[in-house]
Amino acid sequence: MTISEFEVAATTQRSRVPSLRRYAMTPPRHFTVEYAINPWMDTSTPVDTDAAVSQWEQLLDVYRSLGHTVDIVEPVEGLPDMVYAANGALIVGGRAVVARFAFPQRAGEADAYARWMSAHGFTPQETVHTNEGQGDLLVVGSTVLAGHGFRTDPRAHTEVAQLVGMPVVSLELVDPRFYHLDTALAVLDDATIAYYPPAFSDDARARLQELFPDAIEVATADAYVLGLNVVSDGLHVVMPAAATGFARQLADAGFEPIGVDLSELFKGGGSVKCCTLEVYR
Ligand code: ARG
Repeated sequence: MTISEFEVAATTQRSRVPSLRRYAMTPPRHFTVEYAINPWMDTSTPVDTDAAVSQWEQLLDVYRSLGHTVDIVEPVEGLPDMVYAANGALIVGGRAVVARFAFPQRAGEADAYARWMSAHGFTPQETVHTNEGQGDLLVVGSTVLAGHGFRTDPRAHTEVAQLVGMPVVSLELVDPRFYHLDTALAVLDDATIAYYPPAFSDDARARLQELFPDAIEVATADAYVLGLNVVSDGLHVVMPAAATGFARQLADAGFEPIGVDLSELFKGGGSVKCCTLEVYR
């Protein structure tokens, strides 16, 4: 065996360990595309709300079959994007930061998620500057990776670091299709990420290179089906079924990809991760 074959085999055999998670999800009963605030949204595309609900239920079933706990947040009529629960907050180590949305169409979601947090024993804390929760604030190990450029204001990164008591690494996004960090970067476990380099500024790429030299870099075809918008428990990676190249990369790295079809929710510019607010312990 040559050295490179040996390295490949070692990577393939690495054993991954899942851990049980707690998520919050909001059923898309009021989902439509009635405004366009990202390049994926087209108000002339018809949306089948019932199909969105059944696709969403399949995602819920996958989480529950993996043993994870899922809390259901009551959707509010007139807030069609509320299904993208990830954007509602960052909750980690018992601290909860509620979103402050960039667009007025979504502003009301902050109150709905704050109510849910209060009812579940969290004290929602606010930022002065815009923050779109786990759309842009991703926990990896004991660090928060934070996107800016389209939605979350970099000044909110400093606020979030203080509110949750964790270091925050700011990463600039440069391509409007990848307007939230969770469309361009996936956290796979406490030390492993995958990302799409062209979505980031040169500085952000250099920072990611330095922090995660072994990161998985995904191809354009996978990034353009929102393939990075995944939820991992450390072993199982629940992901958009269309990202077949990324699924192979994950399997090669010892993860178990589980593809789901969220084509209706894709019309709003979101997928698996967007629909899932993780309550980090
Ligand atoms: N239509 C929503 C918006 O533009 C989609 C949000 C997707 N969520 C996410 N975590 N990337 O705000």
